[in-house]
Amino acid sequence: MSRSTVHVPLGARAYDVEIGPGLLDEAGARIAPLLGRPRVAILTDDTVAALHLPALARSLEAAGIAHSALSLPPGEGTKSWARLGEAVEWLLAERIERRDVVIALGGGVIGDLAGFAAAILRRGVRFVQVPTSLLAQVDSSVGGKTGVNAAAGKNLIGAFHQPSLVLADISVLETLARRDFLAGYGEVAKYGLLGDATFFAWLESNGPALAAGDPSLRAEAVRRSVRMKADIVVRDETEQGDRALLNLGHTFCHALEAATGYSDRLLHGEGVAVGCALAFELSARLGLCAQEDPSRVRAHLSGMGMKTDLADIPGPLPDADGLMDLMAQDKKVRDGQLRLILARGIGAAFVTGDVPREALRDVLADALAAR
Ligand code: GLY
Repeated sequence: MSRSTVHVPLGARAYDVEIGPGLLDEAGARIAPLLGRPRVAILTDDTVAALHLPALARSLEAAGIAHSALSLPPGEGTKSWARLGEAVEWLLAERIERRDVVIALGGGVIGDLAGFAAAILRRGVRFVQVPTSLLAQVDSSVGGKTGVNAAAGKNLIGAFHQPSLVLADISVLETLARRDFLAGYGEVAKYGLLGDATFFAWLESNGPALAAGDPSLRAEAVRRSVRMKADIVVRDETEQGDRALLNLGHTFCHALEAATGYSDRLLHGEGVAVGCALAFELSARLGLCAQEDPSRVRAHLSGMGMKTDLADIPGPLPDADGLMDLMAQDKKVRDGQLRLILARGIGAAFVTGDVPREALRDVLADALAAR
């Protein structure tokens, strides 16, 4: 059934993203050609380890690859200096050498932490991403952003370190809770909204069947998302320009995540979806895109059963000025000027530093008033 490969042509750092069902069972055979000696170290979390570590271990053993694993607690709290230190010290104790490979088995937290550990261990060892969440398959496992969180904010400490291989096994998505799957879908919808109107229309037609579990549609959605991400990363690996497009909805999202204490009141992908709807609303109010576009975005997200509006976020939120203060912490702020991803239409996003504060405040105030 529907297997595909997206090549990420980054010269000496080029790699493949393999997408399809059953890849976990083939991981050993696919990783073996990368190895200088038949030995790997696996970083994972307790939830994922219980579900998927036995299958990975079996496939490594079938390929004659010795392995050991460190399992960390699940959740965003693991993306910390302390857990990074624990992971690196463990890799050293396991005698992982310069030519060895670290495997990241898990969602975005494990992928980011393991990638950063690999980036700094002995000044850099290779790593393989085996993403187990939809969000990690379509976004965080591809493109080489690695890191941990700081007290001052998310993802403020890190390095660009590209994986040597990504194995996106569509079958593992079956173990995701619906809420987690839909949160990942927020990033999938983002790709259509930022750069491919045809893909967004495809999602409007196929999103419900995909969410219900159709593996071919899931594989196709992951393939198209990864394809688009790879194209952008190849144009701008270290985010000097175009890569910021991947942050459509994210400045709003980061402010909302901070406002909700990074708790399960709002998952990251949910915040991305709400943020995309707000970015389109602001774009329409500024006369950049058609008035119908934000309604179409919101209709699709809410039709999928996703959080779409500020009204869908439980508990108190700051007022519009409070949210704008939180948005000002964004990494894209340059010389104190907020830079946002806005859109001239569905599939036509662009980066701008020209965001009238009053218009932004009005969009936020109206969205808060509707709660
Ligand atoms: N998740 C955004 C990026 O990789 O650039």
